[in-house]
Amino acid sequence: VLTDQELRDQLPHVLAETDFEFSGYKYKGKVRDSYVEADRRWLVTSDRLSAFDVVLTTIPFKGQVLNTLAQYWFGITGDIVTNHLLDIPHPNVMLARNCNVLPVEVVVRSYLTGSAWRDYKEGKSISGITLPDGLKMSQKLPELILTPATKAEKGDHDEPISREEILGRGLVEKRHWEFIEKAAFALFSLGEQKAKERGLLFVDTKYEFGLLDDKVILADEIHTLDSSRYWVEETYQERFNTGAQPEMLDKEPTRQWLLDQGYSGIGKAPIITEEHRIEIAKRYISACEWITGEEFKPVKGNVLPEIERLIVGNQ
Ligand SMILES: Nc1ncnc2c1ncn2[C@@H]1O[C@H](COP(=O)(O)OP(=O)(O)OP(=O)(O)O)[C@@H](O)[C@H]1O
Ligand SMILES: [Mg+2]
Repeated sequence: VLTDQELRDQLPHVLAETDFEFSGYKYKGKVRDSYVEADRRWLVTSDRLSAFDVVLTTIPFKGQVLNTLAQYWFGITGDIVTNHLLDIPHPNVMLARNCNVLPVEVVVRSYLTGSAWRDYKEGKSISGITLPDGLKMSQKLPELILTPATKAEKGDHDEPISREEILGRGLVEKRHWEFIEKAAFALFSLGEQKAKERGLLFVDTKYEFGLLDDKVILADEIHTLDSSRYWVEETYQERFNTGAQPEMLDKEPTRQWLLDQGYSGIGKAPIITEEHRIEIAKRYISACEWITGEEFKPVKGNVLPEIERLIVGNQ
């Protein structure tokens, strides 16, 4: 277990960004830095924390936590669908097969929360799906639903999109989309089952699929705290009955704190103090351990030189 002091000691060494000399293509996402060469993609998971699509701060070990979670889930879902992971040569780095990521985010939900709840409350359908009347916030849905969203260009927000529109606009071929639907539900069901064994509810998640030689593969991240919601099962029912927010392992408390400060992605972000950053780090680490059932063993200190050596040295 990491002490507060160890987390504090990591603050000057957080992995904020990388910018290596690299002959291939480089891409900086909100959280990951990509180095692409031929059919390989190095994904460096940084410690950047984004909320409302804005990068707000860095959290000690957040990158290693996310990568550990992705490794855990890729490892146990490989027989459901082939994924892009080739190797994790460092806790912050994933070596992956580069593919053509499809322009649709594949969201699966088991409970009515987040943007789906907001749309439902306003009487809207959710990515073309009409839910029964009378559902309450955080209620378990009658069945899993798939609510895709467009993968927006840099800087834009993702928008819900219906199955009909995806196929109608030819964003994804029908045979591929049918495969993706099956794969996404199967992945989610395994997520639910594993989470349940750990006393957690698997609430919703986002997948990104890509094409490689005309085959669909699972890319990006899987069931991490950036892409998924997890709730604590033990406290769910009572909170649901009283209309309170469920106890969450994911980054929703950070979003809620920001909203309480009057921030929702526009204008000047509130100051996130070192104390906050340490608290958030603790949440990420304990959530990671809860989900995987394994002790989180970070690589401490300045990880940049080792990552640079790995990527630049192997191009
Ligand atoms: N195997 C892969 N092949 C090609 N691209 C991939 C692969 N895995 C992930 N990606 C892409 O790499 C990027 C990862 O960076 P990150 O998650 O930080 O981006 P983001 O800010 O969430 O999204 P975007 O870059 O779309 O704005 C994403 O654009 C993701 O779609
Ligand atoms: Mg992403």
